[in-house]
Amino acid sequence: MEWIDVGPADELCRRPVQTVTLGRLKLALTFHDGRFGAISAVCNHAGGPLGEGRLAGEYVVCPWHYWKFHASTGEGEPGFEEDRVPAHDVRVDQGRVLVNPTPRTTRQRKPHAPHPLARPPRREPGPLRVLGLSTTAMSAGEPRYSTSDDLLEHALRAAADGLGCATRLVRVRDLSFRACEGFYSKAARACTWPCSITQMDPLDQMEQVYEGVVHWADVILVATPIRWGGASSLYYKMIERMNCIQNQETIANRHLLRNKVAGFIITGGQDNVQAVAGQMLGFFAEIGCQFPQFPYVAHSRGWSAEDMQNNQRAVQNSTALHDGAAALARRCVEMAGVMIAGELGAQALVRGGRKGHDLTASGPAAEPAAES
Ligand code: FES
Repeated sequence: MEWIDVGPADELCRRPVQTVTLGRLKLALTFHDGRFGAISAVCNHAGGPLGEGRLAGEYVVCPWHYWKFHASTGEGEPGFEEDRVPAHDVRVDQGRVLVNPTPRTTRQRKPHAPHPLARPPRREPGPLRVLGLSTTAMSAGEPRYSTSDDLLEHALRAAADGLGCATRLVRVRDLSFRACEGFYSKAARACTWPCSITQMDPLDQMEQVYEGVVHWADVILVATPIRWGGASSLYYKMIERMNCIQNQETIANRHLLRNKVAGFIITGGQDNVQAVAGQMLGFFAEIGCQFPQFPYVAHSRGWSAEDMQNNQRAVQNSTALHDGAAALARRCVEMAGVMIAGELGAQALVRGGRKGHDLTASGPAAEPAAES
């Protein structure tokens, strides 16, 4: 039996979990209750680094999405024992920790039913479909007039009544969903599709936005008020959770959005329309949307217009703004029709342009391929 010396026991016992590297093999070495254990450092789920995890009782917790594997047998937590990573024999001899590089057990993956959102995006036949996303916040029990909601609802009515589209409105304020918790900040591959939170938390309702944007809509109309020169806090909370859509370009060269058109409705009592529009255009371009000519309608009465009650009336009574919202919907719908009828070549979207850097290529974003 071959044993490899990985270091002095009195040093290695100071950390409950750590990574040790044997050639190309990465192991999670643990020390618990006076005993060393060694299992593969590559998580069964998405390849997370188990050696950088923590110990919870006898289990190593993956730092990416918290799957657990027994520190010495490699088996999953109770109920998931069949989901196991390879386990290695360890012994201490004359103060040195020795690990057998040949695993005692093999890797085994328990089949997990895929999340419904994981199905391949495919446009079902039918009329053009327009999704409205309202990102205005207000009290659920005491609704108020919202200029951006008014124009969005008008645009959706125009698309349904005038253009024969199917429409759907998601008021983001009605959804209970968690803020992005930074899985992407841990590693590009830790940010998964469907979103890691969506897969782990059945109560999280961001799923409704994902379903609408990825699987249903041809046109996405996003409405926001201007808040201190930016889009609404709900808008940012929503788009942070949509990083998982763009990240598929990077980690899988996979285009979740094809032939989708986005348009924006931006209203505020005070100014900064162009900066808000620029941010929204930038984000929706990165996730793969196209834009019609003149992709937003907006309204602002300027920096010193603090009389918001008059601003509300100005929008409410403005034929030009309502006509403009309806015309935006028409431009988006017509463009979506053209795009659906004439497919872009498959190569047109490779890796989402310059953003989708190949993680395994050499360069600043390179990372080593995961070992099995
Ligand atoms: S839990 Fe380990 S990679 Fe997801």
